[in-house]
Amino acid sequence: MEIYNNHKRLFGAAIILFIVLTMFAAILPALNAEKNDVPLPGSKALTPDELAGKGIYIREGCIACHTQQVRNVDMDKIWGSRPGIAADYARIKRTDVWRNTAMLMGSERTGPDLTNIGVRQPSQDWLLLHFYNPRSVVAQSIMPAYPWLFEVKEYPFPGDVAVHVPDEYRKGITGQIIATKEAMQLVAYLKSLKQVSLPDGKPTPLFLYGKDSKETGIAQSAASTKAIAAPQLDGAALYTANCSSCHQPNGEGLAGAFPALKGSKVVLDDNPEVQITIIMKGYNGRANEGYGVMPPVGTNNNLKPEEIVAIINHERTSWGNGSKQVTVDDVKKVIAALKPANEIAAKK
Ligand code: HEC
Ligand code: HEC
Repeated sequence: MEIYNNHKRLFGAAIILFIVLTMFAAILPALNAEKNDVPLPGSKALTPDELAGKGIYIREGCIACHTQQVRNVDMDKIWGSRPGIAADYARIKRTDVWRNTAMLMGSERTGPDLTNIGVRQPSQDWLLLHFYNPRSVVAQSIMPAYPWLFEVKEYPFPGDVAVHVPDEYRKGITGQIIATKEAMQLVAYLKSLKQVSLPDGKPTPLFLYGKDSKETGIAQSAASTKAIAAPQLDGAALYTANCSSCHQPNGEGLAGAFPALKGSKVVLDDNPEVQITIIMKGYNGRANEGYGVMPPVGTNNNLKPEEIVAIINHERTSWGNGSKQVTVDDVKKVIAALKPANEIAAKK
């Protein structure tokens, strides 16, 4: 055949075939995907600081241990209220002309998934302490420390963010430990990581292999609205999942950062109103004693009254505390009184 004897025709035909196949196999599907995968209406673009924080996340190699993807398998339920979908990643664009898209889904989960960390752990104080030395807040942590994101100053400037590092982790440092701009940007990036809910009316994808959600003591997702049958929830496990990262497993808190619940006036008070309000709305009443801000953990983690009762009664009967136990009705009454304020906060 002529084509085999004429190299121009042979290569010409091969190139045309290659281009046509590339169009069908790669370029048209990519354009189609780009058209379909628009960002969810509730999602926001990263601010310049958050974007800079993402760069630091990449630079420090956080992806070696952390994923940002909720797979649709049952075991991933604790990382988000629904499995991830393509639109969750639609805002992620090329880093720049030279560098490809860094979407950081990750493949290694030595540490927890961070898809929803901005909801699960929005506390700046906690995140900074944890970067400075993860052991200072999570005693058994194997996460590396990032002390180079901090500097020591004898006389901090106004506006400097000081980190209240417990003495045993200060290694003799006498000045104030101040978060650098980079540390604050990394915090901003982590706080921006929130799973966006689907627009009203859109069917929520289900988790595969979904067994009936058993209470495991871990904060249940917003989507699972099933009533809990058994009143016997494990308060200790719920405390570990929701509170002990700050107030510590022994209830003693961390000096200068998180107050003790052991012997706390609020916990020992027979009237649980303040205690429940703090869980649902957060708290910043003791800033003058150097304590940080407590986020509205109960609202963020969608704790149900039954779960709150279990946590509160655990606190009231542990570490030498011996105060009156509360009932589900007590909790429901206080939450009902808080409702309007909560709804306004949720709309913001
Ligand atoms: C060697 C693996 C490793 C690396 C690298 C690593 N982490 Fe972690 N990370 C962990 C482990 C393990 C935990 C769970 C224990 C703990 O809370 O400290 C964790 C916990 C966390 C948590 C708390 C998660 C939660 O659900 O409470 C955050 C936030 C976090 N890491 C952020 C980061 C950031 C940001 C970086 C990069 C600067 C990073 N990690 C690097 C292993 C790692
Ligand atoms: C991210 C860290 C963090 C988490 C998680 C957290 N707290 Fe707090 N909590 C704080 C801080 C900080 C304060 C002090 C706030 C202030 O007064 O400035 C506080 C204060 C309190 C107080 C008041 C104590 C007193 O004597 O003044 C109670 C009670 C309390 N928390 C209960 C809980 C419970 C219950 C949970 C879990 C559902 C929880 N906290 C989860 C950080 C946290």
